[in-house]
Amino acid sequence: MPRTHRTRTRTLIAAAGVGAALLARRAMRRRIARSPLWPMPALERPVSGRPRARTRRMRIIGRETIADGVVQLRLEGRELPAWEPGAHLDLVLPSGLVRQYSLCGDPADPTSYTVATRLIPEDAGGRGGSREVHEELREGTEIEVRGPRNRFPLESSHAYVFIAGGIGITPILPMVRAAQASGAEWRLLYGGRDRASMPFLEELEEIEKLGAGTGRVTVVPQDEAGLPDLGALFSTAEQAAAVYCCGPEGLMNAVSAALPPGCTLHLERFAPPATAMAGHSGGPFEVELRRSGRTVTVGPDESVLTAVRRELPDTPYSCQQGFCGTCQQRVLGGEIDHRDELLTDSERAHSMLICVSRGGDEGLVLDL
Ligand code: FES
Repeated sequence: MPRTHRTRTRTLIAAAGVGAALLARRAMRRRIARSPLWPMPALERPVSGRPRARTRRMRIIGRETIADGVVQLRLEGRELPAWEPGAHLDLVLPSGLVRQYSLCGDPADPTSYTVATRLIPEDAGGRGGSREVHEELREGTEIEVRGPRNRFPLESSHAYVFIAGGIGITPILPMVRAAQASGAEWRLLYGGRDRASMPFLEELEEIEKLGAGTGRVTVVPQDEAGLPDLGALFSTAEQAAAVYCCGPEGLMNAVSAALPPGCTLHLERFAPPATAMAGHSGGPFEVELRRSGRTVTVGPDESVLTAVRRELPDTPYSCQQGFCGTCQQRVLGGEIDHRDELLTDSERAHSMLICVSRGGDEGLVLDL
């Protein structure tokens, strides 16, 4: 090739390179200018916000039927995070359903977690999670687990009253052990349909024997003794006791109504309260996903979660009914119409459960 021709070719190649770089820079400038977070470019994925709970794979090393309709699972893992009484795990079931189960084993065991689940048939309101646990999870099965997380922590107190209904004993059992170990005064009222359906009766007997005397545990099988006598329970409670209750909504409402003045009440729900305004309906509004540089419109009959997941399909959720807390997101702007009974007042000030709560006409800004 003649020298002049080679020189022109190099010049053309160099000019093409410079042109491409200029075009790329202009495209980047246009992208930056369009971003509401200017001078930051819009991002494909959220880069921060609430940290996602770490997921780990665990193997089921023990499966036992411990009462009628109740299966206990022991899951083995390595370097497991410590947990406190009241904590729960998210189990990611083989179908992809995510369900929360309270930890009911020994918090000092760093090699395994223990949960127990009651089978809730579909005609009794079950939504398939407990059936999958009972029918699909066997010894040797590996599943994904998130957590532990604790939305029902045991606060320090000189005296406790524990009230459990049915499978609601699972978060209460480690609390009773902890109260006994701390030397605090405690009472437990444990109700159920019948003795055969009530797990952990023997364990509770053993714990009670460790105490100074008997009479701390009152077991009330409904077929033998009818409904629990909350008045009698509270009449023997210490002044200003901390009251912890987990069970059906009717029991929790009765405990709320009978609570003596000065006592503090802590409730753990396995299902949304009937009184919760858990519907999705309301006017349409816009939600700005500030970190992603996107905006979604929430229709009148859909949840914020549904609208957000159209843009960010990895946004975590589980119950979709406002009681598990998985979908909690930080709110940066707008007025929140809270429709859950889970968050505390301080959490409500800057966050919301996007599966049930909504925004007003002016919309919301989320840290997503
Ligand atoms: S997904 Fe459970 S509270 Fe929203």
